[in-house]
Amino acid sequence: MNDFTFDDYRQFVEENLTGFLPDVDHKSITLYESMKYSVNAGGKRIRPILLLAACDFCGGNINEALPYACALEYIHTYSLIHDDLPCMDDDDLRRGLPTNHKVYGEAVATLAGDGLLSSAFELMTHDMLLYFDNPTELKRRVSACYEIAKGCGCRGMIAGQIADIEAENSTCSTEMLDYIHITKTADLILSAVRAGAQLGGADADTLNDLTIFAENLGLAFQICDDILDVEGDETKLGKKTGMDEANAKATYPAIHGLEKSKEKLIEHTENAINALAKYYDNAEILTNLAKELAVRAN
Ligand code: IPE
Ligand code: IPE
Ligand code: MG
Ligand code: MG
Ligand code: MG
Repeated sequence: MNDFTFDDYRQFVEENLTGFLPDVDHKSITLYESMKYSVNAGGKRIRPILLLAACDFCGGNINEALPYACALEYIHTYSLIHDDLPCMDDDDLRRGLPTNHKVYGEAVATLAGDGLLSSAFELMTHDMLLYFDNPTELKRRVSACYEIAKGCGCRGMIAGQIADIEAENSTCSTEMLDYIHITKTADLILSAVRAGAQLGGADADTLNDLTIFAENLGLAFQICDDILDVEGDETKLGKKTGMDEANAKATYPAIHGLEKSKEKLIEHTENAINALAKYYDNAEILTNLAKELAVRAN
């Protein structure tokens, strides 16, 4: 465990994100520009920060975890580009800028998302190639990549995205609502923490505690996002509010009401913090992140 701060992690991610994008042939420069546009548009970088913080917490080397952290942010950015498309949530504003398809058109935006997703796996597997003579280190990296693939895949984020779309304009049970929120958002946050833990060589007990932390943080994160869509400030969020109601989305405020949503947000935040209570100050960056998130929506 090092003495890195939250801002150190963020800066580390910011400084390296563009550099890890693949060099493309100049004939594909539009693809590169559109990918870079969304990656560099900003964003809270919560997922790569969580990955680095979890790795550090478990005693790993954050320099070595960096390709995985950046790959995860590429995947998240791709998910936002596709989420904003007219055929999905049809949003015009993202990270304080016009959405990718508003600038580059729908075809390029779709391909920019595809490009970011495939670049993420190129980056991670390229890193693994360097460790073929070291089975322990290789296993950590393959495990991290597996966590990420699982979280963003068709049992995780993609499952959630289709359930989210299908739940529009229909009655949604509280059970289905949780399925949507866990898969579309919490699963990738779980990937961030578990991938970081795998890279840091976490033992089974620590991995289990971090899993409970991340599952609760992930659900709290989407509840918070839902609340901010109702009550948040567009300028601070960098995206339009009121879109969930306009699209008749299944959200916590729509199904539980705002007051109960805020109670649930606090409940899951407390569960997340309690999961790491036994580590005291060593888990401070992770638990503070959960606390600050809850404050954003209250
Ligand atoms: C937005 O994620 C999409 C959700 C899963 C709620 P973030 O709130 O992390 O978006 P950025 O990365 O900061 O733009
Ligand atoms: C997005 O959920 C989840 C993913 C991108 C996978 P939302 O649709 O609620 O995210 P925002 O509100 O557009 O950022
Ligand atoms: Mg959506
Ligand atoms: Mg959306
Ligand atoms: Mg939202």
